[in-house]
Formats: sequence, structure tokens, C-alpha cells
Amino acid sequence: MLRHPLHDGAELGQLEPWHAEQFAAAVSHAREHLAPWIPFAHSVTDVASAREHLRRLAVRHAEDSCHNYGIWQRGKLVGGVVFPAFDTATRTCELGVWLVPEAQGRGLVTAACRYVLDWAFDERGMVRVEWRTDPRNESSRAVARRLGMTHEGTMRSAYVLGGARQDSEVWSVLAEEWAAHR
Ligand SMILES: CC(C)(COP(=O)(O)OP(=O)(O)OC[C@H]1O[C@@H](n2cnc3c(N)ncnc32)[C@H](O)[C@@H]1OP(=O)(O)O)[C@@H](O)C(=O)NCCC(=O)NCCS
Repeated sequence: MLRHPLHDGAELGQLEPWHAEQFAAAVSHAREHLAPWIPFAHSVTDVASAREHLRRLAVRHAEDSCHNYGIWQRGKLVGGVVFPAFDTATRTCELGVWLVPEAQGRGLVTAACRYVLDWAFDERGMVRVEWRTDPRNESSRAVARRLGMTHEGTMRSAYVLGGARQDSEVWSVLAEEWAAHR
């Protein structure tokens, strides 16, 4: 498998349908931690729903409208980074992240984001990468800040998660800002 080394024995690689068992296990393990912020923590409940989730992203990967990566540490899936929207026509995309609780606090997601942001800007010609987060999600806001993103505004009552309507902050980094930041 093609993997890119991060640090602390962690590696970044494509997260694909054949990882369904590992993905289901990671989500089940981290459900309480992910559920306030991440839709798939509600929809991925077993190996079949994990496979279906990864299959849908893989189809969109083939269409170049979504790209999904896992972070493995010593062979165990501990998180991921995903471009849930990737639009080559407008040259804009969105980036999202998740980690199991015990993999937090080591900079793994920031390192993974740096690698895929280089790819999005340098290889794929993106001009704007967005980050959307619940205003209460301090860990997520800290990653956006660490990546040099700017908080552009807050969309009120923008989506439903866990049966409740949530606000969504929009952060972004532009190509020229990324070139100056890294
Ligand atoms: C959001 C989330 C991925 C952030 O995880 P994280 O571990 O804080 O982020 P990173 O992997 O980038 O690590 C940064 C932390 O590691 C520390 N760190 C240690 N070594 C580091 C290094 N080499 N580089 C950068 N940071 C490092 C940083 O100081 C920071 O810790 P701090 O927040 O206590 O200051 C995680 O909290 C999570 O999965 N939350 C639930 C899902 C979620 O909310 N996803 C986002 C939805 S918008």
C-alpha cells in the first residue's frame, strides 16, 4: 500500500472500502468523542455501514470530487483527513479531520493536513481550501488556526447533527497564504 510517513510511527494513506473492518472498529471505539462533531459517527454503526460509507467516498474519489485518507499508527487506524468536497472547476475544496482520542495531542492531524494541503495547492491547483467547524469545537478551531486559516464568518443554524440544528464556522486558507505560511 502507498503510505506517506508522518512522525511518531504514523503514516498517511488512502482510506478505502477494504478498510471497512478497521474503520468500523475505530469509529465504534471513538463514537462518543466523534459524535458531537462528525456525521459519520452517527451513520457508521457496523462493518456494512462502514463499507458503504467508504464505498461512496471511493466512487467520488474516482470522480475527483472527494479524497479520503487514513492515519495509521503502528499499523492501527487512528484517524483521518478528508476532502469531502473537491471542485476542480472552481478550484475550491473543503478539508475535514478526525482522530481517536488517544491519538490526539501529537500533531498528527496538523502534519497530515500540511501534506494534503501541499498536494491540493501545488499538484491540483486549488486556490481556496475551506474548513467548517462547530464554534464550540475548540480542538478543530485550533487546527485551523495552526494551519494559518482565517475565520471568515459563522453560518447560523447551518446543518443538523444528532437531531439538533448547529452553527458552522467557515475558515479558509488561500494558495498565496499557504505558500507564505509553510
Ligand atoms: C479535531 C482533532 C482531530 C484535533 O486533534 P489534535 O490532536 O488536537 O490535533 P493535532 O493532531 O494537530 O495535534 C495538535 C496538538 O498536539 C500538540 N503537538 C504535539 N506535537 C506536535 C507537533 N509535532 N506538531 C503540531 N502539534 C503538536 C499540539 O500542541 C496540540 O496540542 P494542544 O491542542 O494541547 O496544544 C481531534 O480533537 C478530534 O478528532 N476531534 C473530534 C472530531 C472533530 O472534531 N473533528 C473536526 C470536525 S470539524
